[in-house]
Amino acid sequence: MIILTIESTCDETAAAVITEQFEVLSSVVASQENLHRKFNGVVPEIAARAHVERILPVIDETLDRAGIGLSDLNAIAVANEPGLAGSLLVGVVAAKALSLAYDIPLVAVNHLQAHIFACRLAAEKNVFPCVGLIVSGGHSNLYKCNTALDFNPLGGTIDDAAGEAFDKVATMLGLPYPGGPSISKAALEGDDKAYHFPRPFLKDRQSLDFSFSGLKTAVRYELAGQGQVDFSKLDIPKQKVADVAASFQAAVVDCLASKAMLALQQSGMNTLCVGGGVAANHVLRDRLQHECSTAGVTLHIAPFKLCTDNAVMGAIAIERLKAGLVEDLSLDISPGLLRIGKS
Ligand code: KG4
Ligand code: ZN
Repeated sequence: MIILTIESTCDETAAAVITEQFEVLSSVVASQENLHRKFNGVVPEIAARAHVERILPVIDETLDRAGIGLSDLNAIAVANEPGLAGSLLVGVVAAKALSLAYDIPLVAVNHLQAHIFACRLAAEKNVFPCVGLIVSGGHSNLYKCNTALDFNPLGGTIDDAAGEAFDKVATMLGLPYPGGPSISKAALEGDDKAYHFPRPFLKDRQSLDFSFSGLKTAVRYELAGQGQVDFSKLDIPKQKVADVAASFQAAVVDCLASKAMLALQQSGMNTLCVGGGVAANHVLRDRLQHECSTAGVTLHIAPFKLCTDNAVMGAIAIERLKAGLVEDLSLDISPGLLRIGKS
């Protein structure tokens, strides 16, 4: 069996051709980073239009690289939740059209479950049940993942996502978008104890929630005080940029790692899977490696190229197909943060 997976939830247009044995025959990701850089964040309308322009060339290239044609496909999968409405629509409409034209099953992919499934693909063996930590530009959530398709929410951010905080703080520091990699790089030259930024809920041993909005505000006050300010005109000394970047990163990592470990304790699980763009962060990866090996927990972090959005993680569609979960042409998008439970 060969499937085509489509991903267009945010600002990457991606497709992959994958076999039933999770062999990746091809994978293409068209990033829109250049389009959004001057706005220091993803502009939904620009993202949706760019998906419209790219979706068919990306699908064509993916099939070409796999050396197959549309008529060789046995199913087509698409991420229909959660994400930006306009972006999601483009992928879903393309997938429905191909499903109708080639009379092949249509499979819905939950983007957050797919981020965790990236760990399953890299491990090349079952990783469930586990605690799942998803940290990306739009999400910072902890789930009890009973199976690949059965997630129960344990906690999550009450305001900004971790990646969003990286992106906003990078803008304040005059570092380029996307902020995660820029902050990591700047932090290499900085002292992570130079500033003590807030770590909300850290001491609360009941809560598995995060909050990154106050941390962002604390960085703002440190750089510019409380008044109105044009950050592009601030001339922050290079060492201060590095120290703030390192101290900010340390605060985010502290919160994410502590709550992930608490989730393992509370749920009695001994496997942790981590996915999403922020999972590419070296300091977070090192901290989780250390904590998990001390606690005797098996850790799976998505490999770098499967951390940020891609269509390979849409291989979770194979699991849905095996479970008989196929959609008809009434499949709709579901942009909001899901309270995912059994599918
Ligand atoms: O998963 P993703 O590609 O998109 C969403 O589904 O949101 O994640 C993108 C986010 C951005 O906010 C970016 O700044 C962050 O992941 N990111 C990082 C790193 N690389 C990407 N954050 C921290 N450290 C990194 N190395
Ligand atoms: Zn994502």
